[in-house]
Amino acid sequence: MIIGIVAVDQNLAIGKDGRLPWHYSADMKFFKQTTIGNAVVMGRLTWLTLPGPLKDRQNIVLSRDPNHPSQDSVVVLSDVDSVLDRIRKQEEHLFVIGGAQVYELFLPHIERWIVTEVPLAIEGADTFMPANFLDGFEMYELRQLAEGLRVKFYERKVALVSEARP
Ligand SMILES: NC(=O)c1ccc[n+]([C@@H]2O[C@H](COP(=O)([O-])OP(=O)(O)OC[C@H]3O[C@@H](n4cnc5c(N)ncnc54)[C@H](OP(=O)(O)O)[C@@H]3O)[C@@H](O)[C@H]2O)c1
Repeated sequence: MIIGIVAVDQNLAIGKDGRLPWHYSADMKFFKQTTIGNAVVMGRLTWLTLPGPLKDRQNIVLSRDPNHPSQDSVVVLSDVDSVLDRIRKQEEHLFVIGGAQVYELFLPHIERWIVTEVPLAIEGADTFMPANFLDGFEMYELRQLAEGLRVKFYERKVALVSEARP
């Protein structure tokens, strides 16, 4: 399954100055527990914000630069299809972990969203989720985390046969 996971503020902001504009350990812990043992795909700019590969997860970095250095436990791929081909042959889920460019690219392929709502409105934020990213999805679970965070789980609505007119 392909799952998007993101933390958003009240205006759907996700980043500022190339970084995450908050630090919530409850969300970090939740992110780790949710993604561990699976594959994660991220854009090169999000990769640059990490101290190193996410442990116990297959790290895939998307970059158009064929010379982007690969390293142990990190695979660099240059297009969405290569990521999908790779993941199809595997058992693990693929978590799409951002940033905005990569969420946008995977939007048609994402089957579930896990969205942490951060109780802030970040001034000067410069990276946002696409406004329509939850179109066609419905919430099936709501979880409360510490630090005033809420996590909403969404799955893609199944189209009714009667809607599929020729
Ligand atoms: N709140 C959250 O949950 C969350 C999660 C993740 C990230 N973030 C934040 O989001 C911001 C970064 O997001 P961003 O949108 O600027 O960058 P990004 O999506 O992390 O990375 C963009 C890079 O991905 C590569 N890329 C994009 N489209 C591609 C394509 N079609 N084919 C191959 N490679 C492609 C390019 O790398 P090359 O330039 O090497 O070609 C591009 O520069 C940061 O502020 C980060 O902290 C927030």
